Amino acid sequence: MKQITLQQEIKMPALGLGTWKAQGQEVVHAILEAIKIGYRHIDTAMIYDNEVEVGQAIALAIEMGLCVREELFVTSKLWNDRHQANEVLPALEASLDRLKIDYLDLYLIHWPIAFKSGVILPETHEDYLSLSEAPLLDTWTAMQHAQSTGLTRAIGVSNFTVGHLSLLESCSSMPAVNQVEMHPLLTQDKLRGYCKEKGIALTAYAPLGSTDRAAGMKSSDEPNLFDIPEVQDMAQRYNCTPAQILISYHISRGDSVIPKAVQHQHLLDNFMAAQIALSDRDITQLTALDKAYRFINGHFFDCPEKGYDWVFSK
Ligand SMILES: NC(=O)c1ccc[n+]([C@@H]2O[C@H](COP(=O)([O-])OP(=O)(O)OC[C@H]3O[C@@H](n4cnc5c(N)ncnc54)[C@H](OP(=O)(O)O)[C@@H]3O)[C@@H](O)[C@H]2O)c1
Repeated sequence: MKQITLQQEIKMPALGLGTWKAQGQEVVHAILEAIKIGYRHIDTAMIYDNEVEVGQAIALAIEMGLCVREELFVTSKLWNDRHQANEVLPALEASLDRLKIDYLDLYLIHWPIAFKSGVILPETHEDYLSLSEAPLLDTWTAMQHAQSTGLTRAIGVSNFTVGHLSLLESCSSMPAVNQVEMHPLLTQDKLRGYCKEKGIALTAYAPLGSTDRAAGMKSSDEPNLFDIPEVQDMAQRYNCTPAQILISYHISRGDSVIPKAVQHQHLLDNFMAAQIALSDRDITQLTALDKAYRFINGHFFDCPEKGYDWVFSK
């Protein structure tokens, strides 16, 4: 498996397993299957409400002799209600406690948006903290402190735009990773350019269009990435599936990608996709499809009363 080299020479497998929306025994089974296939990178988050099961799967895999902890790259994320400086380390410790592991490989600030302590999903503007009440710079400094304890090897962010990242430029280190939505309809060229310059690795989420989101999170006219003619044409030429083209796109471009799957054939196909190397011409053709289209559009966190206009407009 191709590895991405993060700051401090930390290696991250370019393909990881996403686990959002995978719950209970389904996620335990999927992770065990994935590890048997060869996956070594798992992405979870406090808000996915599956850290306990992800931890169970990791423990089982180790017990079964499928891998050792050091071979795994485990990511989790700080939820929006734990942005205040004194809350970051306890939140990381709570994730480790649920996962029943001693350290994370990567801990991310999930969104550049803060809620009041204990607010999981805000209902009114009073549930938010403005960025002057909970500055990203302070949260990032607390993340750096958390990293210095050894409880996470690397730290990073998610859903940060160039505007958010530039707020951190005065810090002693920039994020190792920025995890963002990315696919041929959202190629993130400006953000990629900035991140490349600053040594920040990009990880693509929702690479297949996040088709299993709840209906309430979808718009009625959502495009289907599998139906894009250029993707279908490449699938024929490379003798693979459209999903495999969509996954290999990121790895061929030098980024990492974390498709979510629980079905055995999907787990297998996605792992094999990491072996497909798209030509520069095909990468260019897919990148030209960009429409700045977001499946996860972030409008659910709009809160002008607390200074949060659209999160991705920065
Ligand atoms: N940082 C963030 O804010 C953020 C936001 C969204 C996602 N993420 C992370 O990124 C991961 C991936 O994103 P996502 O879960 O939203 O969506 P996704 O990976 O784009 O799509 C998942 C859907 O694609 C299906 N699928 C997987 N492999 C397939 C294949 N080879 N052929 C056809 N269908 C296939 C899955 O089916 P089955 O499950 O039935 O196999 C599932 O329904 C998440 O799980 C999460 O870890 C992070």
